[in-house]
Amino acid sequence: MVLSEENPLSDKLVSSGSLVAPFAVGGGLNRQSRQVDWHMSTIYSMFGKFYDLIYGELVDYEGDCDMLNGIFRKFADKKPATLLDIGCGTGSHALILTKRRFEVTGIDTSRPMLEEAERKADEEKAKIRFELQDMRSMDLGTTFDAAISLSGTFGYLKDIKDMESFLHALRTHLNQKGLFVFEFWNTGAVKTDHKDWLTRKKGDSTLIRLSHSVFDPQTNVLNIAMKYFVIENSKVTSNFEELHRVRTFTIPEIRYMVEENEFELLTTLRVEGPKKRPERPTKDTLRILAVAKAR
Ligand SMILES: C[S@@+](CC[C@H](N)C(=O)[O-])C[C@H]1O[C@@H](n2cnc3c(N)ncnc32)[C@H](O)[C@@H]1O
Repeated sequence: MVLSEENPLSDKLVSSGSLVAPFAVGGGLNRQSRQVDWHMSTIYSMFGKFYDLIYGELVDYEGDCDMLNGIFRKFADKKPATLLDIGCGTGSHALILTKRRFEVTGIDTSRPMLEEAERKADEEKAKIRFELQDMRSMDLGTTFDAAISLSGTFGYLKDIKDMESFLHALRTHLNQKGLFVFEFWNTGAVKTDHKDWLTRKKGDSTLIRLSHSVFDPQTNVLNIAMKYFVIENSKVTSNFEELHRVRTFTIPEIRYMVEENEFELLTTLRVEGPKKRPERPTKDTLRILAVAKAR
């Protein structure tokens, strides 16, 4: 793809490799800048087993699947039978969709997340194919009626090369007119410097997560430093940190990317709020759902 004047992505996309993180890796948040190499394989490597503890409360997975059904009813030529869940994580959507009679395959680059997904599927005796694969180079040997990528996985595509590799790989895995339903974070709604924390209790253990997000307007990348502490019997028994680098997008950028790569953008929807009733996104909507159709 040639970058042109009309290209809304302009020079916002950063190349892969290292960047200067606005926080110190080994110390407290926001101390001193330091060069950090970002490796996708390291994120989600430590907290596979804590993921559901955190996101089980934050995400309405059943509501998401209701919403997907509505989208398939409205935009698919016929009801999809086979689904690809890209960045499936611990398989929560895949599990619900399987119970709703879709044949689901989930891919993810994090082994611990997939192990948790497989454990949950075994527990529920659900037949789901999970594969340790990178969305940019996936090769599953089959095609699907539709693909989904929810909860911000799309933002881990950090540059134009990644996005093109992914959309190309996806196109080869989708049947003609197959839908791709994915969520992205809206550049205009991102908080530029934000600190947050949460706690979760499970039995005698408490998990604390401190997070600090700093937005880089040069690259439209949200750098999120997360520190985790596990406390048992009043003692910190484990602590670890992860650095997430999430690319944010505007709707014109998304339109440009998908339409340059053999998809048509059908709609964008606001998916925030507990019941995720699809509405038109506003400039303050952070999480936007895009529906694209393979050409
Ligand atoms: C925020 S989690 C979302 C998980 C799941 N979709 C959900 O809604 O609970 C993002 C997931 O994307 C995965 N991921 C990140 N980069 C990826 C890549 N290049 N290919 C496949 N999966 C990736 C991570 O390992 C992680 O499990």
